[in-house]
Amino acid sequence: MLSFKLSALLAPLFLGSLASAALKDGRAHGNLAPNPIVPLVAAPTGLLTSVDGSALPPITTLYYFDQLIDHNDPGLGTFKQRYWHTWEWYKSGGPIILMTPGEGDADGYEGYLTNVTINGQIAQQQNGATIVVEHRFYGLSNPFANLSVASLQYHTLPQATADLVYFAQNVQLAMPGGSNVQPGKAPWILIGGSYSGALTAWTMTSHPGVFWAGYASSAVVEAIIDFWQYFEPIRLYMPSNCSVDVETVITHVDQVFTNGTAAEIQALKSNWGLGGLSHLDDVAGALRNNLWDWQALSPTSGPGSMFFNFCDALEVKNGKNAGAAGWGLQNALTSWGKYWNETYYDYLCGALDAETCLGTYNASQSIWTDISVNNAARSWEWIVCNDVGYFQEGPPAGQAKIVTQLVQPVYDERQCAYYFPAQFGNNTTPVPKANATNAFYHGCDVKVDRLFIANGQRDPWRYATVSSGDVNIISTPTQPILVGDGFHCSDHYQT
Ligand SMILES: *[C@@H]1O[C@H](CO)[C@@H](O)[C@H](O)[C@H]1NC(C)=O
Ligand SMILES: *[C@@H]1O[C@H](CO)[C@@H](O)[C@H](O)[C@H]1NC(C)=O
Ligand SMILES: *[C@@H]1O[C@H](CO)[C@@H](O)[C@H](O)[C@H]1NC(C)=O
Ligand SMILES: *[C@@H]1O[C@H](CO)[C@@H](O)[C@H](O)[C@H]1NC(C)=O
Ligand SMILES: *[C@@H]1O[C@H](CO)[C@@H](O)[C@H](O)[C@H]1NC(C)=O
Ligand SMILES: *[C@@H]1O[C@H](CO)[C@@H](O)[C@H](O)[C@H]1NC(C)=O
Ligand SMILES: *[C@@H]1O[C@H](CO)[C@@H](O)[C@H](O)[C@H]1NC(C)=O
Ligand SMILES: *[C@@H]1O[C@H](CO)[C@@H](O)[C@H](O)[C@H]1NC(C)=O
Repeated sequence: MLSFKLSALLAPLFLGSLASAALKDGRAHGNLAPNPIVPLVAAPTGLLTSVDGSALPPITTLYYFDQLIDHNDPGLGTFKQRYWHTWEWYKSGGPIILMTPGEGDADGYEGYLTNVTINGQIAQQQNGATIVVEHRFYGLSNPFANLSVASLQYHTLPQATADLVYFAQNVQLAMPGGSNVQPGKAPWILIGGSYSGALTAWTMTSHPGVFWAGYASSAVVEAIIDFWQYFEPIRLYMPSNCSVDVETVITHVDQVFTNGTAAEIQALKSNWGLGGLSHLDDVAGALRNNLWDWQALSPTSGPGSMFFNFCDALEVKNGKNAGAAGWGLQNALTSWGKYWNETYYDYLCGALDAETCLGTYNASQSIWTDISVNNAARSWEWIVCNDVGYFQEGPPAGQAKIVTQLVQPVYDERQCAYYFPAQFGNNTTPVPKANATNAFYHGCDVKVDRLFIANGQRDPWRYATVSSGDVNIISTPTQPILVGDGFHCSDHYQT
């Protein structure tokens, strides 16, 4: 999901060994995780110093915390949880600012210790210290040496929220006085973006009185199984020529794939070089990738970002932009196909064949069977399949669509069964327990004193936040809600 180049200091998320963008973030197989964006941070030149002038360790210094494997049974022992910490602005009595990046390897998120993020800006203003802690079952913070279904029994939302609480109550920080700043002695501020923003709200809801204040950016607090509305902010805010043309193509694809002759279907698949992909929902669903690129946009994104490259490919013909109504079906089909053939397939899949990269029907593929640690896509799917859903699908009949209706929740539920057969047994389409999650954490009805909530109008995840527009959650002085015109977590970092 990260297509921009990061400074030498910070490694991009999902910089795994896999070849393709698609397999790195798991999106080709159905779902893009809502990770916060890694801000660009130039490596500080020279040594950082604290306010008293003493030298600080580099912000990449790694620390380990002994975290309980099971908060319901401390006797099970502990595992090493990684964290990063700095005290550039800290003065005794200042707040301790804690964030987990959530569903990814946290190495690379050190920028969230600095003042290019709201975390560091609060620290700078309030003389606080900052901490980034890795979420259990991501990166190298694992209770067990694998991501088997037996291990993943300890990967739950209640364990994740309890981790943040236990960390705050027990950590001995390396900074001067850092063993005497537990909640009650110092004010703790919990910050999160996206899933970790939801975790901020969920932690403060389920463990009141530990964190003095919270900041939740683009927090996806409402679990939703059929999350077709992921694509609504994109449809509404993308250039209109591009949305009209995408809609025209997708309507055509659904018609041909549903009612066309075998020859018509084959010709249409081949338009994108996907003639060898056997399942039509995989072909039509793969076209979502161009729209998922929207999630990486920020208010300063311009020409050169993947999403705008796509719209330019469709809408610029012989150096001329289409008007608001686009160029129409024929041009859109040809230009979209050419973009895939010449640029996009290679970006998404590298050297992989289409079935390996984009197919979702071969349960023997390593994407489902690989249980080695530091596989963020698998750890995230576990939460998706059990607790939150967020399946990014085509809309209900009658709605304007930029995404195929051939892809519906069963498409993803089937993949949950491939990922975790030992969990779901004979159920070939297990349904996530989204209602139970919402009942437990109150979803959009979250009410927490001193929780600040920020959302972006153009965020594709907005319909899972309190600013969806489907609900009328009122901003109050004790739980302020602000909606800007930004994208996903735009308020959280500086670009
Ligand atoms: C952010 O912190 C750096 C030191 O790490 C400082 O040089 C810079 O002025 C700060 N930026 C702002 C906007 O205060
Ligand atoms: C996963 O790890 C656990 C504990 O580290 C081990 O007991 C178990 O055999 C492993 N499972 C698989 C399927 O490798
Ligand atoms: C397929 O054809 C049937 C019968 O003509 C029609 O009702 C349906 O809407 C068509 N489906 C699509 C996706 O065009
Ligand atoms: C049409 O597409 C071009 C190229 O992507 C874009 O710059 C322009 O803003 C679009 N215009 C409208 C009216 O949608
Ligand atoms: C894309 O490549 C395939 C061959 O792999 C070809 O059949 C198809 O026509 C190409 N699409 C376009 C729009 O040129
Ligand atoms: C399914 O995937 C496995 C593992 O990659 C591969 O060996 C096998 O040939 C694939 N089966 C089909 C029908 O493509
Ligand atoms: C699951 O399927 C297996 C083999 O098809 C069968 O033996 C078993 O009884 C089934 N279990 C349940 C709970 O339906
Ligand atoms: C979840 O709750 C909604 C709204 O209350 C209800 O319509 C739906 O049937 C419930 N789903 C399940 C799986 O219980």
